[in-house]
Amino acid sequence: MKQPVYLDNNATTPVDPRVLQEMLPYFSDKFGNAASRTHSYGWEAEEAVDIAREQVATLIGAHPQEIVFTSGATEAINLAIKGVFDNIDQQEKHIITVCTEHKAVLDTCKHIERLGGTVTYLPVNSNGLISLEDLENAITDHTVLISVMYANNETGVIQPIREIATIAKKHNILFLSDATQAVGKISVNVQTDGIDLLTLSAHKIYGPKGVGALYVRKKNPAVSLTAQIDGGGHERNMRSGTLNVPGIVGLGWACEIASADMVRENKRVIALRNAFEVELLVLQDVEINAEDARRLPHCTNISFGQVDGEKLIFEAGSDLAFSRSSACTSATLEPSYVLKAMGLSDERIHNSFRFSFGRFSTEEDVNHAVLVISRIVKQHRHERNHGHHPVV
Ligand SMILES: Cc1ncc(COP(=O)(O)O)c(C=O)c1O
Repeated sequence: MKQPVYLDNNATTPVDPRVLQEMLPYFSDKFGNAASRTHSYGWEAEEAVDIAREQVATLIGAHPQEIVFTSGATEAINLAIKGVFDNIDQQEKHIITVCTEHKAVLDTCKHIERLGGTVTYLPVNSNGLISLEDLENAITDHTVLISVMYANNETGVIQPIREIATIAKKHNILFLSDATQAVGKISVNVQTDGIDLLTLSAHKIYGPKGVGALYVRKKNPAVSLTAQIDGGGHERNMRSGTLNVPGIVGLGWACEIASADMVRENKRVIALRNAFEVELLVLQDVEINAEDARRLPHCTNISFGQVDGEKLIFEAGSDLAFSRSSACTSATLEPSYVLKAMGLSDERIHNSFRFSFGRFSTEEDVNHAVLVISRIVKQHRHERNHGHHPVV
């Protein structure tokens, strides 16, 4: 067992050796620029990018020409939101999103507000879900975009995507879904789900860091975006810059493997996750956050009562790698805004942790994690009641 046991797959995943193998030639032998049209080095790279485009499209039920490669989900989100906002020529422009979105969405929306746009941040209930009624009520004549994440990175909560899409369509509003945590983990299909713009990232699905994609619907409706990076007109003029061929090849194979393995892998990780939850609930005064919502199969967010959260994560550190909230905000002392929006008390938020299993997690990892956490929780509770003596 590799120590510390890695339980933070929502932050990032290791590159699958099969993915790495496919990428390697594109760093050296096959180093061509995919935009070079006059020799075989370029053609070879272009062909590899075409295959990857197809692999990504297949995983989400899209057409290859609807895939725009980016440097990751953050860039894809920026392109989608700013690209729609800039492209629509009307005086007042309004966007609807949710207060539990990733910072990539929230901070981009803040930018839109600075540009004079208006943004509604929908609240969520105690299970982290938006109300469809709230969504309908928030729509105005000026609403140009609805942006709701597919699944949350801290809790795994899956939003009612098809219902949201139906509402967006009824009002002729574009629907963007940040599906960074959902793609490759559960079945996501832009056609049946009714999504117009969708973002994904390779490093959450056993591909490399620094590469992702934006799905841009080509018909019913054809979505137009204003590019946010100008240059050579790559990616159908939506995102200029020499393509990261090895990264894109890696993203393609990460998608290919996720498609092939999803059903089997889901069964395996959900069994690990459920066993982990059941074992920890035995400790009492333990709560699974958003327990009643539909959640991603591989992760859980758990509050432990009567412990010192800060100490717990520190004490577990040499055995286990997990986190408080998202990797982007875990360094700050600010309590999770996702759990806060769900109505959790500050104390409970402080004692809540995200555990996310993955392709390389084993039963042994789960057993070890349960053992370590149970020991620390019991120790903290004992110290609370009896002062600083070891538990016997
Ligand atoms: C839900 C969600 N959206 C967006 C991102 C940003 O992805 P990237 O790291 O590819 O920019 C992440 C990753 O942290 C995420 O979890």
